[in-house]
Amino acid sequence: MTSLQRIVILTGAGVSAESGLRTFRAEDGLWEGHPVEEVATPEGFARDPDLVQRFYDERRAQVIAAQPNAAHIALGRLSGEFAGELLLVTQNIDDLHERGGARDVLHMHGQALRVWCQSCDARHDWRGTLRDGPQCPSCGAVAMRPDIVWFGEMPYQMERIFDALARADLFVSIGTSGAVYPAAGFVAQASQAGARTLELNLEPSQGSRFFDETQLGPASELVPAWVEEVLGG
Ligand code: OAD
Repeated sequence: MTSLQRIVILTGAGVSAESGLRTFRAEDGLWEGHPVEEVATPEGFARDPDLVQRFYDERRAQVIAAQPNAAHIALGRLSGEFAGELLLVTQNIDDLHERGGARDVLHMHGQALRVWCQSCDARHDWRGTLRDGPQCPSCGAVAMRPDIVWFGEMPYQMERIFDALARADLFVSIGTSGAVYPAAGFVAQASQAGARTLELNLEPSQGSRFFDETQLGPASELVPAWVEEVLGG
Protein backbone atom coordinates (compact mmCIF):
# COMPACT_ATOMS: atom_id res chain seq x y z
CA MET A 1 0.00 0.00 0.00
CA THR A 2 2.95 2.36 0.51
CA SER A 3 3.28 3.07 -3.20
CA LEU A 4 -0.31 4.32 -3.54
CA GLN A 5 -0.41 7.75 -5.16
CA ARG A 6 -3.94 8.20 -6.45
CA ILE A 7 -7.15 6.83 -5.00
CA VAL A 8 -10.70 7.27 -6.26
CA ILE A 9 -13.46 6.31 -3.83
CA LEU A 10 -17.12 5.92 -4.79
CA THR A 11 -19.69 5.72 -2.01
CA GLY A 12 -23.38 4.85 -2.08
CA ALA A 13 -26.33 4.62 0.27
CA GLY A 14 -24.72 1.76 2.24
CA VAL A 15 -22.15 4.11 3.78
CA SER A 16 -24.97 6.13 5.38
CA ALA A 17 -27.21 3.18 6.30
CA GLU A 18 -25.76 2.95 9.81
CA SER A 19 -26.53 6.65 10.27
CA GLY A 20 -30.20 5.75 9.87
CA LEU A 21 -30.68 6.86 6.24
CA ARG A 22 -32.48 4.19 4.20
CA THR A 23 -30.84 2.62 1.16
CA PHE A 24 -32.76 2.63 -2.13
CA ARG A 25 -33.03 -0.98 -3.18
CA ALA A 26 -34.80 -2.46 -0.20
CA GLU A 27 -36.90 -5.61 -0.58
CA ASP A 28 -40.08 -3.77 -1.52
CA GLY A 29 -38.42 -1.81 -4.36
CA LEU A 30 -39.77 1.45 -2.96
CA TRP A 31 -37.83 4.49 -1.79
CA GLU A 32 -39.39 5.53 1.52
CA GLY A 33 -42.70 4.16 0.33
CA HIS A 34 -42.66 5.67 -3.18
CA PRO A 35 -41.90 4.18 -6.60
CA VAL A 36 -38.71 5.84 -7.78
CA GLU A 37 -40.28 7.24 -10.98
CA GLU A 38 -42.79 9.15 -8.86
CA VAL A 39 -40.19 11.07 -6.83
CA ALA A 40 -36.92 10.86 -8.74
CA THR A 41 -37.67 11.81 -12.33
CA PRO A 42 -38.35 15.17 -14.03
CA GLU A 43 -41.65 13.65 -15.30
CA GLY A 44 -42.72 12.79 -11.74
CA PHE A 45 -41.95 16.36 -10.66
CA ALA A 46 -43.94 17.83 -13.58
CA ARG A 47 -46.89 15.55 -12.73
CA ASP A 48 -47.04 16.27 -9.01
CA PRO A 49 -44.61 18.98 -7.85
CA ASP A 50 -46.20 19.21 -4.42
CA LEU A 51 -45.64 15.52 -3.68
CA VAL A 52 -42.03 15.70 -4.85
CA GLN A 53 -41.28 18.89 -2.86
CA ARG A 54 -42.74 17.29 0.27
CA PHE A 55 -40.73 14.14 -0.33
CA TYR A 56 -37.42 16.04 -0.51
CA ASP A 57 -38.43 18.30 2.39
CA GLU A 58 -38.58 15.09 4.43
CA ARG A 59 -35.25 13.82 3.08
CA ARG A 60 -33.66 17.21 3.92
CA ALA A 61 -34.95 17.04 7.50
CA GLN A 62 -33.69 13.44 7.86
CA VAL A 63 -30.24 14.41 6.59
CA ILE A 64 -30.04 17.29 9.07
CA ALA A 65 -31.01 14.96 11.94
CA ALA A 66 -28.56 12.18 10.96
CA GLN A 67 -25.01 11.91 12.30
CA PRO A 68 -21.90 10.65 10.51
CA ASN A 69 -20.87 7.11 11.44
CA ALA A 70 -17.45 5.49 11.82
CA ALA A 71 -17.15 5.00 8.04
CA HIS A 72 -17.66 8.72 7.27
CA ILE A 73 -15.22 9.65 10.02
CA ALA A 74 -12.56 7.22 8.77
CA LEU A 75 -12.89 8.62 5.23
CA GLY A 76 -12.62 12.13 6.71
CA ARG A 77 -9.38 11.09 8.35
CA LEU A 78 -8.11 9.64 5.07
CA SER A 79 -8.99 12.87 3.28
CA GLY A 80 -6.89 14.84 5.77
CA GLU A 81 -3.94 12.47 6.10
CA PHE A 82 -3.43 10.71 2.76
CA ALA A 83 -0.35 12.21 1.14
CA GLY A 84 -1.34 11.39 -2.44
CA GLU A 85 -4.33 12.46 -4.52
CA LEU A 86 -7.74 11.42 -3.29
CA LEU A 87 -11.06 11.95 -5.03
CA LEU A 88 -14.11 11.08 -2.94
CA VAL A 89 -17.15 10.72 -5.19
CA THR A 90 -20.51 10.05 -3.59
CA GLN A 91 -23.88 9.14 -5.03
CA ASN A 92 -25.39 10.21 -1.71
CA ILE A 93 -27.29 13.43 -1.32
CA ASP A 94 -26.52 13.73 2.40
CA ASP A 95 -23.66 15.81 3.82
CA LEU A 96 -22.34 13.14 6.19
CA HIS A 97 -18.97 12.86 4.42
CA GLU A 98 -18.41 16.59 4.96
CA ARG A 99 -19.51 16.32 8.59
CA GLY A 100 -17.20 13.33 8.96
CA GLY A 101 -14.32 15.63 8.00
CA ALA A 102 -13.89 14.93 4.29
CA ARG A 103 -12.87 17.82 2.06
CA ASP A 104 -13.88 18.48 -1.51
CA VAL A 105 -16.56 15.77 -1.78
CA LEU A 106 -17.95 15.34 -5.29
CA HIS A 107 -21.72 14.83 -5.10
CA MET A 108 -22.45 13.33 -8.50
CA HIS A 109 -26.20 13.01 -7.77
CA GLY A 110 -26.61 16.44 -6.17
CA GLN A 111 -27.29 17.40 -2.56
CA ALA A 112 -30.34 17.41 -0.31
CA LEU A 113 -29.23 20.67 1.28
CA ARG A 114 -28.98 22.57 -2.01
CA VAL A 115 -31.74 24.00 -4.18
CA TRP A 116 -31.76 25.08 -7.80
CA CYS A 117 -33.81 27.94 -9.18
CA GLN A 118 -35.41 26.99 -12.50
CA SER A 119 -35.91 30.66 -13.33
CA CYS A 120 -32.43 32.19 -12.90
CA ASP A 121 -30.35 28.97 -12.62
CA ALA A 122 -28.85 29.98 -9.23
CA ARG A 123 -28.11 27.33 -6.62
CA HIS A 124 -28.40 27.97 -2.90
CA ASP A 125 -27.69 26.16 0.36
CA TRP A 126 -31.08 25.33 1.85
CA ARG A 127 -32.11 23.82 5.18
CA GLY A 128 -35.81 24.71 5.17
CA THR A 129 -38.72 23.45 3.10
CA LEU A 130 -39.74 24.02 -0.53
CA ARG A 131 -43.37 22.84 -0.35
CA ASP A 132 -44.48 26.30 0.80
CA GLY A 133 -43.08 27.91 -2.38
CA PRO A 134 -40.29 30.17 -1.07
CA GLN A 135 -38.81 32.83 -3.36
CA CYS A 136 -35.36 32.38 -4.86
CA PRO A 137 -32.92 34.59 -2.88
CA SER A 138 -31.31 35.64 -6.19
CA CYS A 139 -34.24 36.50 -8.46
CA GLY A 140 -37.37 36.32 -6.30
CA ALA A 141 -39.11 33.76 -8.52
CA VAL A 142 -41.02 30.87 -6.96
CA ALA A 143 -39.31 28.23 -9.06
CA MET A 144 -36.88 26.31 -6.88
CA ARG A 145 -36.47 22.54 -7.01
CA PRO A 146 -34.15 20.24 -5.07
CA ASP A 147 -30.63 20.20 -6.56
CA ILE A 148 -30.83 16.45 -7.06
CA VAL A 149 -29.90 14.58 -10.23
CA TRP A 150 -33.00 12.61 -11.15
CA PHE A 151 -33.21 9.62 -13.48
CA GLY A 152 -32.82 10.83 -17.05
CA GLU A 153 -30.62 13.78 -15.99
CA MET A 154 -26.85 14.02 -16.32
CA PRO A 155 -24.82 13.38 -13.14
CA TYR A 156 -22.48 16.20 -12.12
CA GLN A 157 -18.78 16.56 -12.94
CA MET A 158 -18.43 13.37 -14.98
CA GLU A 159 -15.38 14.69 -16.79
CA ARG A 160 -13.50 15.23 -13.56
CA ILE A 161 -14.46 11.73 -12.37
CA PHE A 162 -13.40 9.99 -15.59
CA ASP A 163 -10.15 11.89 -15.57
CA ALA A 164 -9.39 10.73 -12.01
CA LEU A 165 -10.40 7.13 -12.84
CA ALA A 166 -8.03 7.11 -15.80
CA ARG A 167 -5.12 8.02 -13.51
CA ALA A 168 -6.01 6.06 -10.36
CA ASP A 169 -3.85 3.35 -8.76
CA LEU A 170 -6.76 2.18 -6.67
CA PHE A 171 -10.54 2.42 -7.04
CA VAL A 172 -12.63 1.64 -3.98
CA SER A 173 -16.40 1.24 -4.04
CA ILE A 174 -18.19 1.44 -0.69
CA GLY A 175 -21.84 0.61 0.05
CA THR A 176 -23.28 0.74 -3.43
CA SER A 177 -25.34 -1.86 -5.27
CA GLY A 178 -23.76 -1.18 -8.66
CA ALA A 179 -27.24 -0.92 -10.19
CA VAL A 180 -27.21 2.66 -11.45
CA TYR A 181 -25.09 3.91 -14.34
CA PRO A 182 -22.81 5.73 -14.96
CA ALA A 183 -21.48 5.08 -11.41
CA ALA A 184 -21.84 1.31 -11.89
CA GLY A 185 -19.37 1.54 -14.79
CA PHE A 186 -16.57 3.22 -12.82
CA VAL A 187 -15.02 -0.10 -11.79
CA ALA A 188 -14.60 -1.15 -15.42
CA GLN A 189 -13.14 2.24 -16.37
CA ALA A 190 -10.64 2.13 -13.51
CA SER A 191 -9.62 -1.43 -14.17
CA GLN A 192 -9.12 -0.85 -17.88
CA ALA A 193 -6.86 2.07 -16.97
CA GLY A 194 -4.78 -0.24 -14.77
CA ALA A 195 -6.07 0.48 -11.27
CA ARG A 196 -6.57 -2.17 -8.60
CA THR A 197 -10.23 -2.34 -7.61
CA LEU A 198 -11.65 -3.04 -4.17
CA GLU A 199 -15.28 -3.32 -3.08
CA LEU A 200 -16.46 -2.89 0.52
CA ASN A 201 -20.14 -3.80 0.84
CA LEU A 202 -22.55 -5.51 3.19
CA GLU A 203 -23.41 -8.20 0.66
CA PRO A 204 -22.30 -9.18 -2.85
CA SER A 205 -23.47 -6.50 -5.29
CA GLN A 206 -24.40 -6.61 -8.97
CA GLY A 207 -20.89 -5.41 -9.74
CA SER A 208 -18.89 -7.69 -7.43
CA ARG A 209 -17.50 -9.83 -10.23
CA PHE A 210 -15.77 -6.79 -11.76
CA PHE A 211 -13.62 -6.12 -8.67
CA ASP A 212 -10.19 -7.57 -7.94
CA GLU A 213 -11.26 -7.95 -4.30
CA THR A 214 -14.54 -7.76 -2.39
CA GLN A 215 -14.77 -7.53 1.40
CA LEU A 216 -18.20 -8.13 2.92
CA GLY A 217 -19.42 -6.48 6.14
CA PRO A 218 -20.81 -3.25 7.54
CA ALA A 219 -19.13 -0.07 6.34
CA SER A 220 -18.62 1.10 9.94
CA GLU A 221 -16.20 -1.83 10.43
CA LEU A 222 -14.66 -2.37 6.99
CA VAL A 223 -13.91 1.27 6.17
CA PRO A 224 -11.97 2.20 9.36
CA ALA A 225 -9.91 -1.01 9.01
CA TRP A 226 -9.11 -0.25 5.36
CA VAL A 227 -8.21 3.38 6.11
CA GLU A 228 -5.91 2.23 8.90
CA GLU A 229 -4.22 -0.14 6.44
CA VAL A 230 -3.70 2.65 3.87
CA LEU A 231 -2.40 5.22 6.35
CA GLY A 232 -0.51 2.80 8.52
CA GLY A 233 0.96 0.77 5.64
P1 OAD B 1 -28.58 1.00 -3.14
O1 OAD B 1 -29.71 1.05 -2.16
O2 OAD B 1 -28.87 0.54 -4.51
O3 OAD B 1 -27.45 0.03 -2.58
C1 OAD B 1 -26.96 0.14 -1.29
C2 OAD B 1 -25.89 -0.92 -1.09
O4 OAD B 1 -25.36 -0.74 0.21
C3 OAD B 1 -26.41 -2.37 -1.16
O5 OAD B 1 -25.55 -3.12 -2.01
C4 OAD B 1 -26.33 -2.85 0.28
O6 OAD B 1 -25.96 -4.22 0.38
C5 OAD B 1 -25.21 -1.98 0.84
N1 OAD B 1 -25.31 -1.75 2.29
C6 OAD B 1 -26.41 -1.63 3.05
N2 OAD B 1 -26.08 -1.39 4.33
C7 OAD B 1 -24.72 -1.36 4.38
C8 OAD B 1 -23.76 -1.17 5.42
N3 OAD B 1 -24.12 -0.95 6.68
N4 OAD B 1 -22.45 -1.21 5.09
C9 OAD B 1 -22.06 -1.42 3.80
N5 OAD B 1 -22.90 -1.61 2.79
C10 OAD B 1 -24.22 -1.59 3.07
O7 OAD B 1 -27.90 2.43 -3.13
P2 OAD B 1 -26.90 3.09 -4.17
O8 OAD B 1 -26.04 2.04 -4.79
O9 OAD B 1 -26.26 4.23 -3.51
O10 OAD B 1 -29.74 7.82 -7.41
O11 OAD B 1 -27.91 3.64 -5.25
C11 OAD B 1 -27.41 4.34 -6.35
C12 OAD B 1 -28.37 5.41 -6.78
O12 OAD B 1 -29.66 4.86 -7.01
C13 OAD B 1 -28.63 6.49 -5.75
O13 OAD B 1 -27.66 7.50 -5.72
C14 OAD B 1 -29.94 7.05 -6.20
C15 OAD B 1 -30.65 5.76 -6.47
O14 OAD B 1 -31.71 5.80 -7.29
C16 OAD B 1 -30.39 8.97 -7.58
O15 OAD B 1 -31.12 9.46 -6.74
C17 OAD B 1 -30.13 9.62 -8.90
